[in-house]
Amino acid sequence: MIGSSLAVLAPAAAVLLQAASTVAQPVAERDITPLACLFFGPTVSPWWLSRCQAHLDLKVIDLRSADEYAAGHIPGSFNLPFEPVSAWSQMGPGDLLLEMPPSADVFASLGAIGVSNPNPATKIVLVNGVGVPAFPQAASPRVATTLKYAGISEGRVAVLDGGFPGWISENGPSTTVIPTPSPRTYTATEDRSFLVNIDYVKANINKKNKGIFLIDGRDEAVYNGSVLEDWALKAGHIPSAVNLPAKHIWNADGSWKSPLELLAQLRGAVGYGVSRSYGQIIVYCGVGGYASSWYFTLTRILGFDNVVMYDGSAQEWSQYYDMEL
Ligand SMILES: *[C@@H]1O[C@H](CO)[C@@H](O)[C@H](O)[C@H]1NC(C)=O
Repeated sequence: MIGSSLAVLAPAAAVLLQAASTVAQPVAERDITPLACLFFGPTVSPWWLSRCQAHLDLKVIDLRSADEYAAGHIPGSFNLPFEPVSAWSQMGPGDLLLEMPPSADVFASLGAIGVSNPNPATKIVLVNGVGVPAFPQAASPRVATTLKYAGISEGRVAVLDGGFPGWISENGPSTTVIPTPSPRTYTATEDRSFLVNIDYVKANINKKNKGIFLIDGRDEAVYNGSVLEDWALKAGHIPSAVNLPAKHIWNADGSWKSPLELLAQLRGAVGYGVSRSYGQIIVYCGVGGYASSWYFTLTRILGFDNVVMYDGSAQEWSQYYDMEL
């Protein structure tokens, strides 16, 4: 009797167990967004990207050259190289290098890789190379400021810490497969609120006592005039600017220094008069890349909201006014 009940129950139990295991399998693999993925930017680690890429509406944009990208890139990443004339920048009047491009061009580039707006869920991770001088490192913060100009709110943009070399050194996978984009329409209102022109800078030099600090992001030897870069007409720096070389933002491997180290650098160059709530910081450099690096560092990493950027930088200034040695 008992035996025959068991004989009847056994197949039913087996079916139940099988049902349980087929239910259990998808539960284990189901799409649960790890909590860590909710913390986004301003920099993200290779670990974060490898964990979270599949869980979020994330566009990974590789800013390295087409050749570097072709040799191997992060799976799913799109290539929009950062070059003086590219999706990200144009020549300005007076042969000004690296000026903001027409915002409509940035909109088109973003739409082509499937970024739409308004859609606050779509986030962007920028991937740069690493080199000396630190121009490749500067590409990501420069593009981040360009995206701000193109109307993408800052909280939607992050930089991959350590760039592509950092990804590889953490054993991130590399592929030569080019992803197929799903184009969407991107439109926004251009944001120039953080950009200042030469007249504004001229009117605000020598105003430290009024809380206006001018920061030069170029190397020491360029700032002090012992080296003249190709694009500047005169050696030296804009009068009253202090030197805060952007190359010191990153460690030798291209990863970002800690907020405390970055704040110490700022204090060292500008003094303790500067704070997140007092005065204004104007950043500039040779053509705009290092200025963007400090803009990103000060606003996104250190939380200053009183920062503006002089995009014309030393190249434009030296065409019109004297430099100080
Ligand atoms: C300018 O800076 C460079 C690099 O730090 C240094 O070697 C040089 O002595 C400086 N020159 C002057 C005139 O201060």
